[in-house]
Amino acid sequence: MKLWGGRFTKETNQLVHNFNESLSFDNKFYKEDIKGSLAHVKMLSKQGIISEEDCSSIVKGLHSILEDLNSGKLDFDPQYEDIHSFVEGVLTERIGDAGKRLHTGRSRNDQVALDMKLYTRTEILETRSLIIDLLNTIFKTMEENVHTIMPGFTHLQKAQPLTLAHHLGAYFEMFKRDLGRLEDCYSRMNYCPLGSGALAGTTYPLDRDFTAEQLGFFGPTLNSMDSVSDRDYLIEFLSDLSLIMVHLSRFNEEIIIWNTNEYRFVEIDDSYSTGSSIMPQKKNPDIAELIRGKTGRVYGHLMSLLTTMKGLPLAYNKDMQEDKEPAFDAIDTVKGCILLFTGMLNTIKFNTERMRESAEGGFTNATDAADYLVNNGVAFRDAHGIIGALVLKCIELNTSLDKLPLEEYQKISPVFKEDIYDAISMETCVSKRNTIGAPGYDAMEKVMKINKEFLDNIPDAPKN
Ligand code: ARG
Repeated sequence: MKLWGGRFTKETNQLVHNFNESLSFDNKFYKEDIKGSLAHVKMLSKQGIISEEDCSSIVKGLHSILEDLNSGKLDFDPQYEDIHSFVEGVLTERIGDAGKRLHTGRSRNDQVALDMKLYTRTEILETRSLIIDLLNTIFKTMEENVHTIMPGFTHLQKAQPLTLAHHLGAYFEMFKRDLGRLEDCYSRMNYCPLGSGALAGTTYPLDRDFTAEQLGFFGPTLNSMDSVSDRDYLIEFLSDLSLIMVHLSRFNEEIIIWNTNEYRFVEIDDSYSTGSSIMPQKKNPDIAELIRGKTGRVYGHLMSLLTTMKGLPLAYNKDMQEDKEPAFDAIDTVKGCILLFTGMLNTIKFNTERMRESAEGGFTNATDAADYLVNNGVAFRDAHGIIGALVLKCIELNTSLDKLPLEEYQKISPVFKEDIYDAISMETCVSKRNTIGAPGYDAMEKVMKINKEFLDNIPDAPKN
């Protein structure tokens, strides 16, 4: 069941067939393969390269194969080498000699380049739509938490108070960039390689603009050698996916920390947590941990693709068949992670009182206390030293800056007056931070408005 038996006198060794075949995984894009063949054959007939009669019987045959594969009536026959041979073989079985004309002016090299691009293009758009859902979920949670005070951390040590909306806003920005990267990737890759032949084009008068347009591409690719050997777009997409995983794994790591008995900032919904087989009290953040864990797998696939492509001479080499399994797995993994995470975030409960209580401890207002001194004429470096000494005092008295009696303040510096308490309240600490991008309510309102407009104006995905 080969496309290339003519110059061979012996059967292929079974182990060679098993090693060489790709049908077991490239069957994943049978729809794309058939779609590409339909466009190709219509073009062949339009150009007078095959007869209208042959064209219509090929078109009918391809549709019947598509239907039977969709319904499960037709199984992939492992004797075929790949999806391209399988479709052509079944077509010829079904419609006879006309089926043998399908591959006129085409090589499996431009065919697989096309299939992979069609497949990837759909997946880029699907990933994009999952990211849009995630952005909407984050934004909704931000809207509900503009006034939810929580501690901000550096070195995982409490640093300064901010709000949950502000903290989530950091992830909103990351995923917004991810969205832009996916769109960039799409706009660079959406050119059609079909018609490039094995590597040097063909001698038939193919209309490459026609097939490109039929298949929803911006136009045909401009160099036939590059067309059949380019997998840049896959590497680019997997880089984008890897960055999405960087962001997801950071977010999930925070949720894991926030979910610990010590923090108790969040409660993951029962429907998104799991238990222990031995410890009855346990409710584990397995989904968050798995997303964090799957990150390594996606980076691995990116490395695998980069390494496969490194040093490959032009044009097509069989090494490139190794692009598929890593790409498919990376794509499926990341889509699953975004979907699961969006569901988890939609149902998670933020323990806002605990967050506020935590912000109040740990001297998150120490910078503001120093700023109070600066606003009253003390040099910042001196103010830093004074507040440091007061923090030490608080530790000694087991209290916090907002509860420390005024006389203790005044013992260290006479500059302190009763208004120090107002100056270091959590509300003041947050609401005074109003440079754009900061957690202050006014600044936040402006940023929320910009982001709302962004979300409201995301264009629909192109229909291919
Ligand atoms: N299965 C092959 C791949 O994935 C299809 C292209 C085969 N081309 C060839 N010249 N052997 O790359």
